[in-house]
Amino acid sequence: MSRILIAGCGDLGGALATGLLDDGHRVFGLRRDEAPLPVGVERVIADLSVAASLAELPEAIDTVVYAASPGERTDRAYEATFVTGVRHLQQTLARSSPGLDRFLFVSSTAVYAQRDGGWVDEESLTEPVHFSGRRLLEGERLVHDGPGRGCALRLAGIYGPGRTGLLDRVRLGEARYAPGPPHYRNRIHRDDAAGILYHLATGPTPPDCLIGVDSAPVPEREVQEWLAIRLGAPPPRPAQPEPGTRGMAGNRRCSNARLLSRGYRFRFPTWREGYAALLDS
Ligand SMILES: NC(=O)c1ccc[n+]([C@@H]2O[C@H](COP(=O)([O-])OP(=O)(O)OC[C@H]3O[C@@H](n4cnc5c(N)ncnc54)[C@H](OP(=O)(O)O)[C@@H]3O)[C@@H](O)[C@H]2O)c1
Repeated sequence: MSRILIAGCGDLGGALATGLLDDGHRVFGLRRDEAPLPVGVERVIADLSVAASLAELPEAIDTVVYAASPGERTDRAYEATFVTGVRHLQQTLARSSPGLDRFLFVSSTAVYAQRDGGWVDEESLTEPVHFSGRRLLEGERLVHDGPGRGCALRLAGIYGPGRTGLLDRVRLGEARYAPGPPHYRNRIHRDDAAGILYHLATGPTPPDCLIGVDSAPVPEREVQEWLAIRLGAPPPRPAQPEPGTRGMAGNRRCSNARLLSRGYRFRFPTWREGYAALLDS
């Protein structure tokens, strides 16, 4: 049985916690407020961006899963969450958990700037131009240089229960795709994102870096058309390019070959199974 701290125990952290508890691990869920946590998770109230608030952290943690999310899309919020918060937690852990084994950092495929529709993997260049990718990379570096075995899990866009933005847009006939050549996007179902973290927390020594995406990068238009047919909604339309902007973000195919080679088995191998389950629920 391990003592596992989930720093930022929200939707993803909660789903992970449930699996870990079922397996007999002791799970501490850290967040700032009193919002519900899964039954069995031991609550830690602290603000990662305020060092003093981490004084009461439980001792002798074996594994940290850092899954805090910035409340807003600003450089300041990203820095506080992915840089300052990591640093504060590391400083506290150095005193309270000298035997820390693993520090798993939930990162994102936003660390990649490639936009040509080609494949990227864990060895591909990371030269983000946007602050989000830059701050995440800063966090990844801290984790690699800090206590325990550091691993950055680069997740693509998460979909799943309660994350119905695309479904709602398609249903309302408001879905838009990038005009022109195929514009590839990558996805991961929330339950697989939690499953991969479970695998990294409890399985063999994690790699420095792992991409967490399903097995089917797909042009966004294809997903929207597939959903529109199933929902009986109007077909999606191309977006009007806005002058002076770089167009819709992303356009890359992220490889999950390393993840598969580690023996991870997807619950939802592609977006088709994942969205079909959501539509049936
Ligand atoms: N959504 C996506 O498509 C996507 C893609 C790639 C990666 N990710 C990453 O996946 C991770 C988990 O996402 P999620 O969907 O589970 O987010 P979520 O449901 O918003 O959970 C995040 C948790 O972090 C806590 N938190 C935020 N700031 C904190 C702070 N300063 N101190 C302590 N706790 C803090 C929040 O609780 P309180 O507000 O109560 O503090 C919340 O419980 C995040 O790192 C996110 O960046 C998401």
